[in-house]
Amino acid sequence: MIQKKYLAQNFGQAAKTYQQYSFIQDLAADILLNYILIKNPKNILELGCGPGNFTKKLANKFSEAKVTAIDISKEMLEVAMLEVPKSDLNRFKFIQADAETFLADPEEKFDLIISNATLQWLNMVKQKGYFAVSMFGPKTFKELAEVLAEENIKIAAQYFKDLAAYQQIFAEGKETFIEKEYPSLLDLLKYIKNTGTKHHQKSLIKGLWTKKKVEKLESKYLARFGKIKVTYHLIFARGHSDRT
Ligand SMILES: C[S@@+](CC[C@H](N)C(=O)[O-])C[C@H]1O[C@@H](n2cnc3c(N)ncnc32)[C@H](O)[C@@H]1O
Repeated sequence: MIQKKYLAQNFGQAAKTYQQYSFIQDLAADILLNYILIKNPKNILELGCGPGNFTKKLANKFSEAKVTAIDISKEMLEVAMLEVPKSDLNRFKFIQADAETFLADPEEKFDLIISNATLQWLNMVKQKGYFAVSMFGPKTFKELAEVLAEENIKIAAQYFKDLAAYQQIFAEGKETFIEKEYPSLLDLLKYIKNTGTKHHQKSLIKGLWTKKKVEKLESKYLARFGKIKVTYHLIFARGHSDRT
């Protein structure tokens, strides 16, 4: 079960660094924008807008649309609000809310509900309508998971849903695997920390990431894979949904 308190805290701490490190989320964003089938949405709901990196792209693509962007982290929303040009601000609404329980004004009908790199953190979403979403799948960081399994530690990604699970909710889905190499394990851990995607159970990490321990884990990682490479497992899904 995802612990919301830690999740909001971790993302909040990463709000200012996120966009320097979010290359994979930005790649997912570009694929997702081309995956939307509807042409001219007038009223868009974005779930988990983070620091507004995807919100900006969305607003550029649909320059007439109104966008309601929600996020559970206040700090992320503060950055997102600064990202939007002041002259354009009147077509945006930023709301701090949990996407699982968020209830839009009943008068408001969204013709596109969209979410980039976020749905893996949610158990369910109550909105009904046309969805286009991207999220990380369970093979994300599978190499790190293998190394940490020896320490009896599980990472959050192992609990993410797979493509088959999303295909039961949305009409269509596809997945892609992207490999990336990091110069060192510390660089990989830095990326994880600075995008807020670290494990939600803080207590598990305490005492683990001492310098010595990182060196030991890095040796294990290199022995197993020859380099510090990771897999990013991206899942895209779209379609009308009244089951989420
Ligand atoms: C990986 S970031 C993605 C940010 C942005 N959409 C992007 O494209 O890079 C995930 C975001 O989802 C937010 N989030 C996680 N769980 C949430 C929830 N239950 N309700 C609303 N936002 C949530 C986090 O605070 C974080 O800003």
